[in-house]
Amino acid sequence: MKKILVTGGAGYIGSNTAHLLVRRGFDVMVVDDLSRGHAHNVAGIPFRRLNLSESGALADVLAREKADAVIHFAAYIAVGESTQNPELYFSNNVGGTISLLAAMAQAKVKRLVFSSTAAVYGMPKIVPIPEESPFAPVNPYGETKVMIETMLGWLDQYSGLRSIALRYFNACGSDPESDLGEEHDPETHLIPLLLKAIVTGNPITLFGDDYDTPDGTCIRDYIHVMDLAAAHVLAVENLLAGGASDAFNVGTGTGHSVLQVVRAVEEVTGNKVPYTIGPRRPGDPPSLVANSEKLKRTLGWKPKFPDLTDIVKTAWQFEQKRSATS
Ligand SMILES: NC(=O)c1ccc[n+]([C@@H]2O[C@H](COP(=O)([O-])OP(=O)(O)OC[C@H]3O[C@@H](n4cnc5c(N)ncnc54)[C@H](O)[C@@H]3O)[C@@H](O)[C@H]2O)c1
Repeated sequence: MKKILVTGGAGYIGSNTAHLLVRRGFDVMVVDDLSRGHAHNVAGIPFRRLNLSESGALADVLAREKADAVIHFAAYIAVGESTQNPELYFSNNVGGTISLLAAMAQAKVKRLVFSSTAAVYGMPKIVPIPEESPFAPVNPYGETKVMIETMLGWLDQYSGLRSIALRYFNACGSDPESDLGEEHDPETHLIPLLLKAIVTGNPITLFGDDYDTPDGTCIRDYIHVMDLAAAHVLAVENLLAGGASDAFNVGTGTGHSVLQVVRAVEEVTGNKVPYTIGPRRPGDPPSLVANSEKLKRTLGWKPKFPDLTDIVKTAWQFEQKRSATS
Protein backbone atom coordinates (compact mmCIF):
# COMPACT_ATOMS: atom_id res chain seq x y z
CA MET A 1 0.00 0.00 0.00
CA LYS A 2 1.45 3.38 -0.98
CA LYS A 3 1.85 5.98 1.77
CA ILE A 4 0.98 9.60 1.10
CA LEU A 5 1.81 12.52 3.39
CA VAL A 6 -0.81 15.26 2.99
CA THR A 7 0.21 18.74 4.18
CA GLY A 8 -2.69 21.07 4.96
CA GLY A 9 -4.97 18.05 5.19
CA ALA A 10 -7.08 19.61 7.93
CA GLY A 11 -8.18 22.32 5.50
CA TYR A 12 -10.98 22.32 2.95
CA ILE A 13 -9.50 20.71 -0.17
CA GLY A 14 -6.80 18.76 1.68
CA SER A 15 -9.26 16.99 3.98
CA ASN A 16 -11.55 15.98 1.11
CA THR A 17 -8.52 14.64 -0.76
CA ALA A 18 -7.13 12.83 2.29
CA HIS A 19 -10.43 11.02 2.86
CA LEU A 20 -10.74 10.16 -0.84
CA LEU A 21 -7.20 8.75 -0.82
CA VAL A 22 -8.13 6.50 2.12
CA ARG A 23 -11.24 5.32 0.25
CA ARG A 24 -9.04 4.57 -2.79
CA GLY A 25 -6.78 2.32 -0.71
CA PHE A 26 -3.86 4.64 0.10
CA ASP A 27 -2.22 4.85 3.50
CA VAL A 28 -2.49 8.52 4.50
CA MET A 29 -0.86 10.74 7.11
CA VAL A 30 -1.83 14.39 7.52
CA VAL A 31 0.36 17.19 8.83
CA ASP A 32 -1.21 20.56 9.52
CA ASP A 33 -0.59 23.28 12.09
CA LEU A 34 -4.36 23.94 12.41
CA SER A 35 -3.70 27.67 11.90
CA ARG A 36 -6.53 27.72 9.35
CA GLY A 37 -7.84 24.17 9.40
CA HIS A 38 -10.00 22.07 11.71
CA ALA A 39 -9.13 18.98 13.75
CA HIS A 40 -12.60 17.52 13.00
CA ASN A 41 -11.63 17.32 9.30
CA VAL A 42 -9.00 14.67 10.04
CA ALA A 43 -11.10 12.42 12.25
CA GLY A 44 -10.06 8.82 11.58
CA ILE A 45 -6.85 9.76 9.73
CA PRO A 46 -3.39 9.65 11.36
CA PHE A 47 -2.53 13.27 12.07
CA ARG A 48 0.47 15.22 13.34
CA ARG A 49 0.17 18.87 14.29
CA LEU A 50 3.21 20.50 12.71
CA ASN A 51 4.12 23.77 11.07
CA LEU A 52 5.89 23.42 7.72
CA SER A 53 8.80 25.46 9.08
CA GLU A 54 9.69 22.49 11.34
CA SER A 55 11.82 20.92 8.64
CA GLY A 56 13.63 18.40 10.86
CA ALA A 57 10.39 17.12 12.36
CA LEU A 58 8.87 16.85 8.87
CA ALA A 59 11.88 14.87 7.65
CA ASP A 60 11.51 12.52 10.65
CA VAL A 61 7.81 11.99 9.86
CA LEU A 62 8.53 11.35 6.17
CA ALA A 63 11.30 8.86 6.96
CA ARG A 64 9.49 7.07 9.80
CA GLU A 65 6.29 6.76 7.78
CA LYS A 66 8.26 5.71 4.68
CA ALA A 67 6.20 8.15 2.61
CA ASP A 68 6.13 7.43 -1.11
CA ALA A 69 4.80 10.87 -2.05
CA VAL A 70 3.62 14.19 -0.64
CA ILE A 71 0.50 16.12 -1.60
CA HIS A 72 1.12 19.70 -0.52
CA PHE A 73 -1.93 21.85 0.24
CA ALA A 74 -0.65 23.78 3.28
CA ALA A 75 -0.67 27.50 2.52
CA TYR A 76 -2.48 30.72 3.28
CA ILE A 77 -5.00 31.38 0.55
CA ALA A 78 -6.60 34.82 0.85
CA VAL A 79 -5.67 37.18 -1.98
CA GLY A 80 -6.72 40.30 -0.03
CA GLU A 81 -4.71 39.30 3.06
CA SER A 82 -1.69 38.67 0.83
CA THR A 83 -1.80 42.31 -0.33
CA GLN A 84 -2.09 43.56 3.27
CA ASN A 85 0.64 41.29 4.62
CA PRO A 86 2.84 40.03 1.77
CA GLU A 87 5.63 39.05 4.21
CA LEU A 88 3.31 36.54 5.85
CA TYR A 89 2.51 34.97 2.50
CA PHE A 90 6.11 34.77 1.28
CA SER A 91 7.18 33.40 4.64
CA ASN A 92 4.39 30.86 5.09
CA ASN A 93 3.79 29.74 1.53
CA VAL A 94 7.26 30.00 -0.01
CA GLY A 95 9.32 29.61 3.18
CA GLY A 96 7.11 26.74 4.33
CA THR A 97 7.48 24.99 0.99
CA ILE A 98 11.27 25.40 0.99
CA SER A 99 11.30 23.80 4.43
CA LEU A 100 9.11 20.94 3.17
CA LEU A 101 11.31 20.44 0.09
CA ALA A 102 14.40 20.28 2.31
CA ALA A 103 12.68 17.66 4.50
CA MET A 104 11.71 15.65 1.42
CA ALA A 105 15.29 15.79 0.14
CA GLN A 106 16.57 14.60 3.53
CA ALA A 107 14.06 11.73 3.62
CA LYS A 108 14.61 10.97 -0.09
CA VAL A 109 10.95 11.40 -1.04
CA LYS A 110 10.87 12.24 -4.76
CA ARG A 111 7.20 12.67 -5.65
CA LEU A 112 5.11 15.79 -4.97
CA VAL A 113 1.66 17.02 -6.00
CA PHE A 114 1.39 20.77 -5.42
CA SER A 115 -1.69 23.01 -5.00
CA SER A 116 -1.21 25.84 -7.44
CA THR A 117 -3.83 28.29 -8.62
CA ALA A 118 -5.35 30.18 -11.54
CA ALA A 119 -3.91 33.27 -9.83
CA VAL A 120 -0.54 32.44 -11.46
CA TYR A 121 -1.99 33.76 -14.75
CA GLY A 122 -3.02 37.20 -13.47
CA MET A 123 -5.05 38.92 -16.21
CA PRO A 124 -4.78 36.31 -18.97
CA LYS A 125 -5.09 37.34 -22.63
CA ILE A 126 -6.63 34.02 -23.73
CA VAL A 127 -9.73 32.64 -21.97
CA PRO A 128 -10.34 29.67 -21.49
CA ILE A 129 -6.77 29.73 -20.23
CA PRO A 130 -4.33 27.09 -21.49
CA GLU A 131 -1.40 25.99 -19.31
CA GLU A 132 1.02 27.71 -21.72
CA SER A 133 -0.29 31.16 -20.73
CA PRO A 134 2.56 33.13 -19.20
CA PHE A 135 2.88 33.54 -15.43
CA ALA A 136 1.77 37.09 -14.64
CA PRO A 137 0.43 37.20 -11.07
CA VAL A 138 -1.18 40.41 -9.89
CA ASN A 139 -0.99 39.78 -6.14
CA PRO A 140 1.53 38.33 -3.66
CA TYR A 141 -0.58 35.17 -3.18
CA GLY A 142 -0.32 34.31 -6.89
CA GLU A 143 3.38 35.20 -6.84
CA THR A 144 4.03 32.71 -4.02
CA LYS A 145 2.63 29.93 -6.22
CA VAL A 146 4.70 31.07 -9.23
CA MET A 147 7.84 31.05 -7.08
CA ILE A 148 7.08 27.52 -5.91
CA GLU A 149 6.31 26.22 -9.40
CA THR A 150 9.58 27.79 -10.57
CA MET A 151 11.51 26.03 -7.79
CA LEU A 152 9.85 22.74 -8.68
CA GLY A 153 11.10 23.10 -12.27
CA TRP A 154 14.70 23.43 -11.04
CA LEU A 155 14.34 20.55 -8.59
CA ASP A 156 13.02 18.35 -11.40
CA GLN A 157 16.12 19.17 -13.42
CA TYR A 158 18.78 18.90 -10.72
CA SER A 159 17.35 16.87 -7.82
CA GLY A 160 15.19 14.29 -9.56
CA LEU A 161 12.05 15.55 -7.79
CA ARG A 162 9.03 14.68 -9.92
CA SER A 163 6.09 16.97 -9.28
CA ILE A 164 2.68 17.83 -10.65
CA ALA A 165 1.31 21.31 -10.07
CA LEU A 166 -2.49 21.47 -10.19
CA ARG A 167 -3.71 25.00 -10.90
CA TYR A 168 -7.18 25.13 -9.45
CA PHE A 169 -9.83 27.61 -10.32
CA ASN A 170 -12.61 28.35 -7.76
CA ALA A 171 -12.96 25.37 -5.43
CA CYS A 172 -16.46 24.95 -4.02
CA GLY A 173 -19.16 22.52 -2.94
CA SER A 174 -19.00 19.67 -0.47
CA ASP A 175 -18.88 15.89 -0.56
CA PRO A 176 -22.51 14.71 -0.26
CA GLU A 177 -21.19 11.53 1.43
CA SER A 178 -19.17 13.15 4.22
CA ASP A 179 -19.45 15.86 6.86
CA LEU A 180 -16.63 17.87 5.32
CA GLY A 181 -17.23 21.30 3.83
CA GLU A 182 -15.91 24.78 3.25
CA GLU A 183 -15.16 26.47 6.58
CA HIS A 184 -12.54 29.14 5.95
CA ASP A 185 -12.23 31.78 8.67
CA PRO A 186 -12.57 34.48 7.54
CA GLU A 187 -14.49 33.19 4.53
CA THR A 188 -13.69 35.02 1.30
CA HIS A 189 -15.29 32.67 -1.24
CA LEU A 190 -18.49 33.56 -3.05
CA ILE A 191 -20.78 30.53 -2.59
CA PRO A 192 -20.39 30.14 1.21
CA LEU A 193 -20.72 33.92 1.58
CA LEU A 194 -23.98 33.95 -0.43
CA LEU A 195 -25.33 31.09 1.69
CA LYS A 196 -24.30 32.90 4.85
CA ALA A 197 -26.09 36.06 3.66
CA ILE A 198 -29.26 33.98 3.30
CA VAL A 199 -28.88 32.32 6.71
CA THR A 200 -28.07 35.57 8.58
CA GLY A 201 -30.06 38.05 6.48
CA ASN A 202 -26.97 40.32 6.40
CA PRO A 203 -26.37 41.59 2.85
CA ILE A 204 -23.22 40.56 1.03
CA THR A 205 -21.28 43.12 -1.01
CA LEU A 206 -20.55 42.04 -4.58
CA PHE A 207 -17.39 43.58 -6.00
CA GLY A 208 -18.26 45.55 -9.12
CA ASP A 209 -20.89 45.29 -11.85
CA ASP A 210 -19.10 47.34 -14.52
CA TYR A 211 -16.74 44.71 -15.94
CA ASP A 212 -16.64 43.98 -19.65
CA THR A 213 -18.77 40.83 -19.25
CA PRO A 214 -22.39 40.16 -20.34
CA ASP A 215 -23.93 41.21 -16.99
CA GLY A 216 -21.02 43.35 -15.77
CA THR A 217 -19.93 41.00 -12.95
CA CYS A 218 -16.79 38.85 -12.88
CA ILE A 219 -16.82 35.41 -14.46
CA ARG A 220 -15.17 32.47 -12.70
CA ASP A 221 -14.85 28.72 -13.18
CA TYR A 222 -16.43 26.92 -10.18
CA ILE A 223 -14.93 23.49 -9.64
CA HIS A 224 -16.38 20.98 -7.17
CA VAL A 225 -14.03 19.99 -4.36
CA MET A 226 -14.51 16.25 -5.07
CA ASP A 227 -13.51 16.76 -8.71
CA LEU A 228 -10.41 18.52 -7.41
CA ALA A 229 -9.75 15.70 -4.96
CA ALA A 230 -10.07 13.17 -7.80
CA ALA A 231 -7.51 15.14 -9.84
CA HIS A 232 -5.03 14.79 -6.95
CA VAL A 233 -5.52 11.05 -6.79
CA LEU A 234 -4.87 10.78 -10.55
CA ALA A 235 -1.81 13.03 -10.28
CA VAL A 236 -0.21 11.10 -7.43
CA GLU A 237 -0.96 7.78 -9.13
CA ASN A 238 0.70 9.10 -12.27
CA LEU A 239 3.84 10.15 -10.40
CA LEU A 240 4.01 6.86 -8.48
CA ALA A 241 3.82 5.02 -11.81
CA GLY A 242 6.90 6.91 -12.98
CA GLY A 243 5.18 9.87 -14.66
CA ALA A 244 7.10 13.04 -15.51
CA SER A 245 6.75 16.47 -13.89
CA ASP A 246 3.95 18.55 -15.32
CA ALA A 247 1.33 21.24 -14.59
CA PHE A 248 -2.41 21.07 -15.22
CA ASN A 249 -5.35 23.42 -14.93
CA VAL A 250 -8.30 22.05 -12.96
CA GLY A 251 -11.62 23.67 -13.82
CA THR A 252 -14.86 22.78 -15.57
CA GLY A 253 -14.16 24.96 -18.61
CA THR A 254 -17.44 26.82 -18.06
CA GLY A 255 -17.58 30.31 -16.62
CA HIS A 256 -20.35 31.73 -14.45
CA SER A 257 -20.78 35.37 -13.54
CA VAL A 258 -21.25 36.46 -9.93
CA LEU A 259 -24.90 37.25 -10.68
CA GLN A 260 -25.40 33.81 -12.25
CA VAL A 261 -24.08 32.27 -9.03
CA VAL A 262 -26.47 34.47 -7.04
CA ARG A 263 -29.34 33.14 -9.16
CA ALA A 264 -28.22 29.52 -8.73
CA VAL A 265 -28.08 30.01 -4.95
CA GLU A 266 -31.58 31.53 -4.98
CA GLU A 267 -32.91 28.64 -7.05
CA VAL A 268 -31.37 25.97 -4.80
CA THR A 269 -32.30 27.58 -1.47
CA GLY A 270 -35.64 29.09 -2.50
CA ASN A 271 -34.55 32.36 -0.86
CA LYS A 272 -33.53 35.77 -2.16
CA VAL A 273 -29.89 36.65 -1.52
CA PRO A 274 -29.63 40.04 0.20
CA TYR A 275 -26.80 41.89 -1.58
CA THR A 276 -25.41 45.29 -2.48
CA ILE A 277 -23.00 46.18 -5.27
CA GLY A 278 -19.70 47.69 -4.13
CA PRO A 279 -16.67 48.94 -6.02
CA ARG A 280 -14.37 46.60 -7.94
CA ARG A 281 -11.78 44.75 -5.88
CA PRO A 282 -8.26 45.69 -7.05
CA GLY A 283 -6.58 42.94 -9.09
CA ASP A 284 -9.78 41.05 -9.97
CA PRO A 285 -9.58 39.89 -13.62
CA PRO A 286 -12.94 40.09 -15.47
CA SER A 287 -12.89 36.44 -16.50
CA LEU A 288 -10.97 33.35 -15.34
CA VAL A 289 -12.03 30.11 -16.98
CA ALA A 290 -9.87 27.01 -17.30
CA ASN A 291 -8.97 25.07 -20.36
CA SER A 292 -8.64 21.65 -18.65
CA GLU A 293 -8.35 19.57 -21.81
CA LYS A 294 -4.77 18.59 -20.96
CA LEU A 295 -5.82 17.07 -17.63
CA LYS A 296 -8.63 15.13 -19.31
CA ARG A 297 -6.41 13.93 -22.12
CA THR A 298 -3.31 13.09 -20.09
CA LEU A 299 -4.67 11.77 -16.79
CA GLY A 300 -8.19 10.77 -17.87
CA TRP A 301 -9.84 13.22 -15.46
CA LYS A 302 -13.57 13.84 -15.90
CA PRO A 303 -15.54 16.18 -13.62
CA LYS A 304 -18.56 14.58 -11.93
CA PHE A 305 -20.09 17.94 -11.00
CA PRO A 306 -20.00 20.05 -14.18
CA ASP A 307 -23.29 21.74 -13.31
CA LEU A 308 -23.28 24.82 -11.06
CA THR A 309 -26.71 24.10 -9.56
CA ASP A 310 -25.55 20.64 -8.44
CA ILE A 311 -22.45 22.18 -6.90
CA VAL A 312 -24.51 24.77 -5.02
CA LYS A 313 -26.86 22.02 -3.78
CA THR A 314 -23.94 20.23 -2.10
CA ALA A 315 -22.69 23.48 -0.55
CA TRP A 316 -26.20 24.21 0.75
CA GLN A 317 -26.49 20.71 2.25
CA PHE A 318 -23.28 21.35 4.17
CA GLU A 319 -24.38 24.82 5.29
CA GLN A 320 -27.65 23.40 6.61
CA LYS A 321 -25.83 20.61 8.49
CA ARG A 322 -23.45 23.20 9.94
CA SER A 323 -26.22 25.62 10.99
CA ALA A 324 -28.09 22.72 12.64
CA THR A 325 -25.10 21.73 14.79
CA SER A 326 -23.76 25.20 15.71
N1 LIG B 1 -9.89 27.17 -2.13
C1 LIG B 1 -9.65 27.51 -3.40
O1 LIG B 1 -10.54 27.94 -4.15
C2 LIG B 1 -8.25 27.37 -3.95
C3 LIG B 1 -8.02 27.76 -5.28
C4 LIG B 1 -6.72 27.62 -5.81
C5 LIG B 1 -5.71 27.08 -5.03
N2 LIG B 1 -5.96 26.73 -3.74
C6 LIG B 1 -4.85 26.17 -2.94
O2 LIG B 1 -5.29 24.96 -2.37
C7 LIG B 1 -4.66 24.75 -1.11
C8 LIG B 1 -5.72 24.41 -0.07
O3 LIG B 1 -6.71 25.44 -0.04
P1 LIG B 1 -7.96 25.33 0.96
O4 LIG B 1 -9.07 26.12 0.38
O5 LIG B 1 -8.15 23.93 1.35
O6 LIG B 1 -7.37 26.16 2.20
P2 LIG B 1 -7.53 25.89 3.78
O7 LIG B 1 -7.12 27.16 4.47
O8 LIG B 1 -8.85 25.32 4.10
O9 LIG B 1 -6.42 24.77 4.05
C9 LIG B 1 -5.06 25.06 4.17
C10 LIG B 1 -4.54 24.26 5.36
O10 LIG B 1 -3.12 24.47 5.47
C11 LIG B 1 -2.80 24.64 6.84
N3 LIG B 1 -1.56 25.41 6.88
C12 LIG B 1 -1.35 26.66 6.39
N4 LIG B 1 -0.06 27.02 6.58
C13 LIG B 1 0.54 25.98 7.21
C14 LIG B 1 1.86 25.74 7.66
N5 LIG B 1 2.84 26.66 7.53
N6 LIG B 1 2.16 24.57 8.27
C15 LIG B 1 1.19 23.62 8.42
N7 LIG B 1 -0.09 23.78 8.01
C16 LIG B 1 -0.40 24.96 7.40
C17 LIG B 1 -3.99 25.34 7.44
O11 LIG B 1 -4.09 25.14 8.85
C18 LIG B 1 -5.16 24.69 6.69
O12 LIG B 1 -5.64 23.55 7.35
C19 LIG B 1 -3.86 26.01 -0.82
O13 LIG B 1 -2.51 25.77 -1.15
C20 LIG B 1 -4.46 27.04 -1.77
O14 LIG B 1 -3.51 28.01 -2.14
C21 LIG B 1 -7.20 26.86 -3.18
